[in-house]
Amino acid sequence: MNGHVPVLRDEVVQGLDPKSGEHLLDLTLGRGGHAVEILDKTAPDGRLLGVDRDPDALAHAAEVLPADRIELVHGNFGDLPDLRVSIGVGTWDLVLADLGVSSPQLDESDRGFSFRHDGPLDMRMDPTRQGTAAELLERITEGQLVTLISELGEDRFAARIAAAIVRARAQEPIRRTGRLAEVIRAAVPLRRDSKLDAATRTFQALRIAINGELEALQHLLDRVGSLLSPGGRLAIISYHSLEDRKVKDTFRTLTQEGDHRLVTPRLVRPSAVEVRRNPRSRSARMRIICRLGIN
Ligand SMILES: C[S@@+](CC[C@H](N)C(=O)[O-])C[C@H]1O[C@@H](n2cnc3c(N)ncnc32)[C@H](O)[C@@H]1O
Repeated sequence: MNGHVPVLRDEVVQGLDPKSGEHLLDLTLGRGGHAVEILDKTAPDGRLLGVDRDPDALAHAAEVLPADRIELVHGNFGDLPDLRVSIGVGTWDLVLADLGVSSPQLDESDRGFSFRHDGPLDMRMDPTRQGTAAELLERITEGQLVTLISELGEDRFAARIAAAIVRARAQEPIRRTGRLAEVIRAAVPLRRDSKLDAATRTFQALRIAINGELEALQHLLDRVGSLLSPGGRLAIISYHSLEDRKVKDTFRTLTQEGDHRLVTPRLVRPSAVEVRRNPRSRSARMRIICRLGIN
């Protein structure tokens, strides 16, 4: 057990259908949960280029992946100009983007993603970069905060939450996840029927903003056409309707243009069994596209 259960693991392997000798670009390697399964199928000489912006994730992945078939890159895939980096491949047979955060990132309170465990209000997937959530909350205007929470968190109480945050920071800067969560919970009416913690959506919105998650996804989607080898497959797992809408629209355009085909005509969601075993998988949605042509 490496601390992160790969979401839709069997569906990813089945949908991407990796074959011996195929090369994989995993843009969100994490601890390598999906990659290890795929490398098993691409043995003996299929290679992996694994990208992650979290150095800690890469260090853990290196422990479980076959050293002679992999190359790891630390960075945001949204910053890689043409995503065709390295191992001399040019284009890829298999590309995977399993977006969002990993369980270790959420569970380690020092990373500052979690409203369940108190920690410094950080939320950077890449701790070597500037700009924590605490710093953002110090300088953002109330109006910008309303927009951020309503657009990226889709929280209908955005205005109340933003007002409460601005009042709280006037007393003392908000530097801990625990304090932020308390401020949010006190600002919204208690809904006994909701299983969702009142802080969930605001934390999600801040995380997406701090890490430029939608911008990175757009960067990838703008390059799908030049990324895949003929016959190559790309799987994207998203955890948010804003992300999934972007993926769906891009995949639709690519198939209409005639060079690609949908491998998953219907959205792939985790089974009830998977959600029971791994509740964090519940919002996952996967789409796979294939570039037409023979390998
Ligand atoms: C859901 S986890 C991936 C888990 C992985 N598929 C596994 O099974 O172990 C997402 C990972 O992607 C990384 N990540 C998210 N956005 C990224 C980006 N724009 N560039 C590089 N890495 C990113 C995160 O740091 C995290 O480690």
